[in-house]
Amino acid sequence: MVIDWDALIAAARQVRKNAYAPYSQFHVGAALLGKSGRIYVGCNVENASYGLTICAERNALFSAVAAGEREFVALVVAGKDSQVFPCGACRQVLYEFCDDLPIRIVGEDGTQTETNLRELLPQAFRFKDLTHQ
Ligand code: THU
Repeated sequence: MVIDWDALIAAARQVRKNAYAPYSQFHVGAALLGKSGRIYVGCNVENASYGLTICAERNALFSAVAAGEREFVALVVAGKDSQVFPCGACRQVLYEFCDDLPIRIVGEDGTQTETNLRELLPQAFRFKDLTHQ
């Protein structure tokens, strides 16, 4: 499938505007392309009980799974700059559904960092490892 990165970037930037981040003021948007061609978006949603905060990436992934999508083609994260890498929790949750995933992180000024899930989460743990006892 051809990845329309511009469409993903536009979607991630748009949803970033909905980020609820009164505690950190750190607004993040994510757009995840499913194998069906649909784009799923998510923003971070913080909470007064800080630990209940959910990241943009997991929000996008969970809404995709809720819509029945389980295979993914690409992810864009939109942040203040192009160094807003997915946190460890999001990397592990993405890995549940993706062997690998091309990822672009885009800043407000348009600069981009290209990476992928394998690079961000080498030697990752997954379900098949549970059988290696
Ligand atoms: N955050 C994300 O949503 N995604 C990232 O990739 C990094 C961090 C959020 C969580 C929290 O609301 C705020 O950014 C500061 O950590």
